[in-house]
Amino acid sequence: MSNERYRLGFHIAPKTGWLNDPNGLCQFRGVYHAFFQFNPVWPKIDTKYWRHFTSTDLVHWKDCGTPLVTDIAEDRNGVYSGSACVRRGMASDGGDLMCLYYTGNVVYKDDPEAGMDFVHTGREANEILVTSEDGEHFSEKSVLLRNSDYPDVCTLHVRDPKVWEQDGRVWMLLGARDLDDEGMVLLYGSDDGREWRIKSQVYSKNPFGYMWECPNIVQIDGHDFLAVCPQGLPDEVDRWQNLWQAGYFPLEGSILDTVLVDETTFVEWDLGYDFYAPQVFVDDSGRTILIGWMGTFEDNRTSSPNGMMWAHCLTVPRVLTIGENGLLRQNPAPELDAMRGEAIPLKVSRHVAIDEHRGDIVIEGIQGVGALALDDNAVEIAYTGEKLEVSFGNAEVAGGRIDRQVPLDHLDDLRVMVDTSAIEIYANGGETVFSTRWFPTADMFKVEASFKSDHAVMYPLEDAMADAYVDSHVM
Ligand code: FRU
Repeated sequence: MSNERYRLGFHIAPKTGWLNDPNGLCQFRGVYHAFFQFNPVWPKIDTKYWRHFTSTDLVHWKDCGTPLVTDIAEDRNGVYSGSACVRRGMASDGGDLMCLYYTGNVVYKDDPEAGMDFVHTGREANEILVTSEDGEHFSEKSVLLRNSDYPDVCTLHVRDPKVWEQDGRVWMLLGARDLDDEGMVLLYGSDDGREWRIKSQVYSKNPFGYMWECPNIVQIDGHDFLAVCPQGLPDEVDRWQNLWQAGYFPLEGSILDTVLVDETTFVEWDLGYDFYAPQVFVDDSGRTILIGWMGTFEDNRTSSPNGMMWAHCLTVPRVLTIGENGLLRQNPAPELDAMRGEAIPLKVSRHVAIDEHRGDIVIEGIQGVGALALDDNAVEIAYTGEKLEVSFGNAEVAGGRIDRQVPLDHLDDLRVMVDTSAIEIYANGGETVFSTRWFPTADMFKVEASFKSDHAVMYPLEDAMADAYVDSHVM
């Protein structure tokens, strides 16, 4: 019952099983591909595979099964995260070739006699390549890099290849933990995408977490941004509140010339509760699109209440642009507007109720303080004049979430996309973003806004995932 009740209408999620990081995002021969970290037998702990969804419009997705599973010695404990690099004209038919790079995870069996700590001993991280000429059939696996190939400063924690083409060469970023327990990134270069040479090691000026996972590169209008997920930052009142963080460093020059980043410039992508390990890709129209994991590994709150048999989802595709302050803005891909029904005006302090918990709320030209309440304050998004705060007034709905806030000296606009059990909040043109799960108990979806504004509406949204799982018998 709750499996179906909380099933999402426009977010990618597995029908059953566990989802974490998005992987292999790309547009290939016209079709959008999103893979993700998938454990089919969750809540049993098992290994990780790549589940695969495709779409032609970024709105309607189709579940295409689990093409990458653990079937060689070098990935026997997990087909871990990685990326796609579409190589133009490299396929045997002269068309594009999808190159998927991922980390094969190997963890040795615990043996108390051997005293393994699984950081310096007892594990392997292998970088592996799989190709596809049609996006449906996948090649044999080729192991490209092993621990013995990484610089001596690294522990055995090296993973999550991000591969892209630039200046006629192929580049790979890897996240790593060094021997002093400092997070860092390795940059490799290659002529053919198979033979790799180390180019540089990128550190922060001062230590910034003990491991950087899931590195990524954003390149817009000649500006480079290095994205990483640092583990081990202390949490503070209005930042770094998740267990691990996800954000980026705006770079002064090209990533290819960077060896040091300034950790004081680190910007978090999203204030949570549920966000980690995002990945970006450039689509055929040249847009840089980000999709994140709408979840975390934290166990003090739930994403699967009432015995739900699936855990977590991905965010909607977000188009990245550079704002006036030089930082990145995130906004839902405009394709998502096609799901909208007729606009319902939101009048100050008069509630609107619709049948399904799926709505796109747009409030523009906001004057002063105010709040948006979902389901009678089950969730409240409030602007106090000094901060924007997302708080839960109903513990059952919250599943362990309480409140999150960010200092904000003005609020001009808000866009809130509610999809059954997921909420994405975009403030000030996508400068500030919160993504959180919730588990509404009310049957009707009730919205009430108290903001004075120029324009305030809610659009009911289509269930765009209704046919996503027709092929879900595919394993
Ligand atoms: C990040 C991460 C990656 C790893 C994957 C395993 O969430 O820990 O570093 O490749 O998840 O599922």
